[in-house]
Amino acid sequence: MDPVSNPYSPGAGRKPAALVGRDQPRRDWQIAIERVESGRTAQPFVLYGLRGVGKTVLLSDFRRSASERDWLVAQVEAGAGKSLREALGEALHAPLADLARPSAGRRLLKALKTAVSFKASYDQSGTWNFGLDLDGASGGGADTGVLETDLRKLIHDLALAAEEESVGLAILIDEAQDLNPAELVALCAIAHAAAQDDWRVLFAFAGLPSLPRVLAEAKSYAERFNYEKIEELRGTVASEALTKPAREDGVEWDDSAVALIVDESAGYPYFLQQFGQDTWNAATGVKITFDDARVGAANGRAALDSGFFRARWDRATRAEQNYLRAMAEDDDKGSSSGEIAVRLGRGPASFGPIRANLIAKGLVYAPEHGVIAFTVPGMAAFIKRQPNGS
Ligand SMILES: Nc1ncnc2c1ncn2[C@@H]1O[C@H](COP(=O)(O)OP(=O)(O)O)[C@@H](O)[C@H]1O
Ligand SMILES: [Mg+2]
Repeated sequence: MDPVSNPYSPGAGRKPAALVGRDQPRRDWQIAIERVESGRTAQPFVLYGLRGVGKTVLLSDFRRSASERDWLVAQVEAGAGKSLREALGEALHAPLADLARPSAGRRLLKALKTAVSFKASYDQSGTWNFGLDLDGASGGGADTGVLETDLRKLIHDLALAAEEESVGLAILIDEAQDLNPAELVALCAIAHAAAQDDWRVLFAFAGLPSLPRVLAEAKSYAERFNYEKIEELRGTVASEALTKPAREDGVEWDDSAVALIVDESAGYPYFLQQFGQDTWNAATGVKITFDDARVGAANGRAALDSGFFRARWDRATRAEQNYLRAMAEDDDKGSSSGEIAVRLGRGPASFGPIRANLIAKGLVYAPEHGVIAFTVPGMAAFIKRQPNGS
């Protein structure tokens, strides 16, 4: 088939042609939006799961549905080189600039002035003015330097402005396991205050399977958040991820071809997109056949090995690779850190820094204390295929 019209999209955060199998969380989010618009509260959403299952595209879908209702929306990624303060501040500039106008109401003017002070708290040189004279407005003061205080003031004033505009405020945070403890505590405390006082704000967090534990350790009332485990796609839903995008282009898949790719990918969205893409490119007839899928699966595996897995492997130092090799003996199940130390013949404490670096690099995570696991499915098998000393 023509690669130009290939509808599959393997890649972190890439919007799939058909976002399948997430009806429940999407419905829940829609309900939450409507609740907030009608003056009720909704608990923060927490989307957690391995890499490649589709958390970011779901979070972006949440963002779009809030934007469609003209909400004030900020989506940020934690740990991408900026503090939460700066990332959120910068993400809010464009939506606030869109709202700013000479006829702005009292609460919007106040929120703008508070946003200007928040900006000044992390960037003295680049002031905002929104083209309005804010001298007479109340607000400001989100620049004490104490994150929780400043962020609370900002979100509170923005939520009041959103109410004045008959909309809401949505704060979406990806890779939330990478927030630092102070940032986590601040967000949880603010979400708690928002729920108690009916602020017009909705939060959504996405991150690795360790995120629920990380949140619970930050604040006990994080227990009440709305947790949604994002997993591989199963059965007909996984098939739809392949057949729906093709059908929109007038292309059909043979059932046997679909079955092979669903099986090869184990239903992981990233792998479905990769194998779907390679199968499409391998197909020469009017229909996608079993043979096309066999070629596509082989090409897809090679592409994952040289890209998706290889990029992760190459990010690890030699010592870290040895650690990963010891983990791979347990396949994708997760390993006890104590047991790995035994395998490598040294005391567990000496591996602390290696473990911390691997977590910081996003290659592994701690499902619970004393346990370590790969963040992507299939990593263990890939490692076992790597010759020693490579
Ligand atoms: N529900 C879905 N249906 C079809 N494809 C999906 C779905 N969710 C994610 N994908 C695809 O899977 C890949 C990984 O998605 P992403 O959101 O980056 O995962 P994560 O953030 O969990 O690592 C992307 O190529 C995306 O297009
Ligand atoms: Mg992601």
